[in-house]
Parts: sequence; structure tokens; C-alpha cells
Amino acid sequence: MGKNIILTGFMGTGKSSVGTKVAERLNRQFVDMDREIEKLTGMTISELFRRFGEVRFRSEETLMAKKVAAQNDLVVATGGGIILDQKNMELLRSNGTIVCLVADPEEIFQRVRRKRGTRPLLKKNLTVDDIIAMLEERQPLYDQAEIKIHTSGRNIDSVVDDIINRLRQEHGVL
Ligand code: S3P
Repeated sequence: MGKNIILTGFMGTGKSSVGTKVAERLNRQFVDMDREIEKLTGMTISELFRRFGEVRFRSEETLMAKKVAAQNDLVVATGGGIILDQKNMELLRSNGTIVCLVADPEEIFQRVRRKRGTRPLLKKNLTVDDIIAMLEERQPLYDQAEIKIHTSGRNIDSVVDDIINRLRQEHGVL
């Protein structure tokens, strides 16, 4: 039984697409925490925020972190704000290796502006400066990850190779 592989990182850094491929390559089950919360509550993340607020979403997120930490051999894509609560990180780290995906603010901006409607924390007239400000605020929290991987300008397969190699070579977890 192996530890979980936990993908963190800001919105739009590619956690879900990279996570899906890492899981395929390692023949592991993939869990997308936001999608699981949507299934469990019967609401989209936007709807959950709109009807019950961010506090409710964050408590669903912590419940999901507990569920994940109770299992093994998963590849998990977290929501970008999972790092905001230290308790979540302790839970996930208790049984997992934390990998943070990093991307340039401009690239994040281009990726998230297309799907802004699905991300309730992003305002309507979003700018690159808004992304930079949020990133700065969260940076020390993302920096807690054991492995950091840059994704800007790279294709998914090379990012996936990088993650798997580093997990094997530096962490001996695979
Ligand atoms: C959030 C990121 C979102 C989602 C929610 C809050 C955040 O996930 O969990 O909208 O606080 O950064 P993605 O990182 O998958 O967009």
C-alpha cells in the first residue's frame, strides 16, 4: 500500500488534467476533490458558494481531505484553496506526498478567464494583477509542498514524466 500523491497549486495550473494522466500512468485511482464535493452535495462549486457561502465549501473540503487521508494509492487533485487551512495540509500529508504545480500569472490568467464562471472567487473583470496578488498571498502556503513542478509552456506529458521521476528519485514513494 502506497502513500497518496496530492496535487496542489493555484487555479488553472493543470491539477485535474495532470492528475488524470499521472493516475493513468501509475494505474492508480484518480480523485478530483472538487468533483467529489459536487457529487456529494448535488451542487456545482459555484452553486455551493452562492447558496451557502465559502465557509460551507471549505468545511466540505476538509471533510473530503479526511476521506482522502483515510485511503491509499490515490492520485488526488485538490482545489486551489486547500492550502488555506493548515488542518487540511496536515491530513493530506499524513498519508501523502504533496506536489505543487506552478505556472506564470499570465498563463494562469489566460487559462482561468475562459472558465471564470466555474470559479466563484474570481471576479468579473479579472486582471493579471488580481492573479499576482492572490498568488503572493498564498505563496508561502503553496511552498509547503515537497515537490514543486513548473508547468508553463510545457506539455502535459513532460509534466507527468517530471512528477513521476521526482517521486521515484527524490522521495522513493513509487
Ligand atoms: C478555489 C479553487 C477552485 C475551487 C474553488 C476555490 C481556490 O479549484 O476549489 O473555486 O480557493 O483557489 P481549482 O483550483 O480546481 O480551480
